[in-house]
Amino acid sequence: MPTNINADAAWNYHEATKHSYTSVRTNPHFLDFGNQPLPFKIYTSLEPSRMPIEVRQTGVAALSAIAARLPDPVQANAAPDLEAVAQLLYLSAGITRQRKYSGGEIYFRAAACTGALYEVELYLVCGDLVNLPAGVYHFAPAEFGLRQLRAGDYRSVLVEATGGEPAIAQAPLTVVCTATYWRNAWKYQARTYRHFGWDNGTLLANLLAVATALGLPAKVVCGFVDATVNRLLDVDSQREVAFSLVALGHDSILSARPAAPSETAARLLTDISPLGFETVPLSRNEIDYPLMREMHAASSLDSPEEVAAWRGDAAPGHTEMRPAAIGGTGMTNLPPPAGPIIQLTPLFDAEMPRDPIEQVILRRGSSRQFARTPISLTQSSTMLDRATRGIPADFLNPFGSQLNHLYLIVHAVEGLDSGAYVFHRDHRTLECLKQGNFREQAGYLGLEQQLPADAAVDTFFLADLRPILQRFGNRGYRAVQLEAGILGGKLYLAAYGQHLGATGLTFFDDDVTAFFSPHAQGKSAIFLVAVGHGVKSKR
Ligand SMILES: Cc1cc2nc3c(=O)[nH]c(=O)nc-3n(C[C@H](O)[C@H](O)[C@H](O)COP(=O)(O)O)c2cc1C
Repeated sequence: MPTNINADAAWNYHEATKHSYTSVRTNPHFLDFGNQPLPFKIYTSLEPSRMPIEVRQTGVAALSAIAARLPDPVQANAAPDLEAVAQLLYLSAGITRQRKYSGGEIYFRAAACTGALYEVELYLVCGDLVNLPAGVYHFAPAEFGLRQLRAGDYRSVLVEATGGEPAIAQAPLTVVCTATYWRNAWKYQARTYRHFGWDNGTLLANLLAVATALGLPAKVVCGFVDATVNRLLDVDSQREVAFSLVALGHDSILSARPAAPSETAARLLTDISPLGFETVPLSRNEIDYPLMREMHAASSLDSPEEVAAWRGDAAPGHTEMRPAAIGGTGMTNLPPPAGPIIQLTPLFDAEMPRDPIEQVILRRGSSRQFARTPISLTQSSTMLDRATRGIPADFLNPFGSQLNHLYLIVHAVEGLDSGAYVFHRDHRTLECLKQGNFREQAGYLGLEQQLPADAAVDTFFLADLRPILQRFGNRGYRAVQLEAGILGGKLYLAAYGQHLGATGLTFFDDDVTAFFSPHAQGKSAIFLVAVGHGVKSKR
């Protein structure tokens, strides 16, 4: 029986990795700087070929790029050339800033990442593109280059691994995102598996927005046979694992062919020989956190048939369990509002700040301090509206479904009483759960940090894990973390697109649920983003 179905592993992992007032005080963990992992994966025997670094100006406003959805292509071809590939990679995982500190240098990247540890690696699997021959490549951010791991067209392997996912079958290029345990666990121990979703998610928010600005359809794919994808990349899956795929572009010739030509795929699968390329060890020694590997194994999918069923294309009897029933196109499982309702007042397209997506990504950096000055209801509404217009993903069918719910602590929004709110996405309204000044409580909930106390608004993502895990098994846990990371990444971009600041934050799990209860009773805290007027830091 597939292990994914029995979701005990996800529950166990989630419970075991909760932060509480006591857990953070009794954890003897300390940062061993002498054993700090390398921030990059370096293949010792492969030279990267450098990519063009000029950032193409698309002129597409960030607030449009995060919210727009390209129409499903029917016949038109949309394939990135090498320049577009470079743009996609640079603006999602490239080095955008550097800062020296006493222990060395931090290479800050385009998307926010817990601890600036950058455990997500990107690989390309493509057919022949303009100026980039078909192959499997690793993205090397330090050199801003690509290392070719395999020559030739291996896309059918991904078609097979995803059980014939149409977006993958029609894509000239798929980006495979992997996550490396130790690079993040050095600091965060077993909680790192949650960070895989968050950090991959913020990166995907950028990638999706840039793809949209470049006119490339994109789809996030969470359902795939893990072992096949890991084998294609030849990663050591005890250390590094494929976490998500993004199908990019559309090839009308491919789409006219039947998906997953299984003989070719079967032949290719047998062709996937181990590569055995050496990589530089990340640290002197690595500490293993078996709980994460157990969680990963229990959420792995073993066959294309299991993947196809997981995606929701399976037995009609399962339809009531589909994501639509969980999130609906809005929040169908939120009870009807019982408290005062505030209508959001987002900007119309014509009124929006037009700062282009490239500029906004390069400007972004997590706020290290917030001024306690208010933002406007329009700014706050625009962020919520633009960030939640839907994510193209195989676990969010139909388009517009959502697994997480947004709960807010408002400290300083003009025209909105300070207090706790829940966002009703379908109606673009906020329901007030309680009024009051909760700055002190917010600081406490955000792991006793000053940032959530000083922000204008703290947005918490909470999810009802029971139906999600029932529908998607343990893999649903990956999906819910990833969705929160993407939504959080979009909030970052929506804030910086309006010249505001933002930062992701971690939290005391059960205290967050308790704070928003009784409304949030039974839900789990997944992620937190604080937004406000950032105070300029020196970096
Ligand atoms: C999921 C997530 C959680 C984070 N948690 C915290 C936090 O608890 N405290 C904090 O000061 N910064 C937090 N950050 C901000 C990171 O430290 C920051 O993204 C990283 O240092 C990279 O810097 P940059 O975002 O300015 O590029 C978080 C970021 C993310 C994406």
